[in-house]
Amino acid sequence: MTSQAADSPAVPNFDRVPRHVAIIMDGNGRWAKNRKLPRIEGHRQGTKSVEAAIKAARELGVEYLTLYAFSVENWNRPALEVKSLMLLLMESLKRYAEELSENQIALKAIGRLDDLPENVREQIKITEQKTARNAKMTLLLALSYGGRVELVEGVRKLALMVKSGKLQPEQIDETLIANSLYTTGIPDPDLLIRTSGEMRLSNFLPWQTIYTELYVTPTLWPDFGREDFFAAVSEYNKRERRFGGV
Ligand code: IPE
Ligand code: IPE
Ligand code: MG
Repeated sequence: MTSQAADSPAVPNFDRVPRHVAIIMDGNGRWAKNRKLPRIEGHRQGTKSVEAAIKAARELGVEYLTLYAFSVENWNRPALEVKSLMLLLMESLKRYAEELSENQIALKAIGRLDDLPENVREQIKITEQKTARNAKMTLLLALSYGGRVELVEGVRKLALMVKSGKLQPEQIDETLIANSLYTTGIPDPDLLIRTSGEMRLSNFLPWQTIYTELYVTPTLWPDFGREDFFAAVSEYNKRERRFGGV
């Protein structure tokens, strides 16, 4: 994260800043295709948008930012693309560890982390440990993440507790289920942004997003910047959240 350019406009005065923003960062491949570049160039450019989104969220005082970086389904992509994505992830984790701390941001990875290559897992652990005490914002990186598999893993944990007699089936409630997920202790997303115009969730946070405000922008992820983040929050400010009430 570079420091804010002197000429960049001031932060707008939003009346409600979402506590938790989640982003489905989509459209890297199309961005590259439009330029006749290999897909990986789109992913590379996308890391700049990651930086911009983190900075914008931090500027606004967002407490939790969750970025969908790699889904369980993404393992089905060509091996070369997967490998390049893992390399890019390693590079970014190393490059930004310092800046995360400078900006008081804690990193937490969520997903089937055991599926990741050993070196990536190590780098995640190092960065998580280094940034653990940072208290201004938590950056959740969804890696090898799948919402259904998250629920499956959670259900298994609870089943084991029942089996061992530590838990009665009647004691299972929404809080207990929420606490068996990767996002235990983290408030549900208030705002979900998806870039590149796709109107779907693609296995992202199914339990956590039941009352999340959705914002889809046609902008491709590599073109997404500070102003786009602000535009999404500005739209969120116009929404009336009713949670089933009147
Ligand atoms: C998002 O961009 C990045 C990942 C899913 C890893 P895509 O790679 O899905 O880009 P499109 O959707 O093909 O344009
Ligand atoms: C969702 O994007 C996953 C991430 C952004 C990491 P995809 O590009 O994989 O989703 P689909 O295939 O269009 O639903
Ligand atoms: Mg996509």
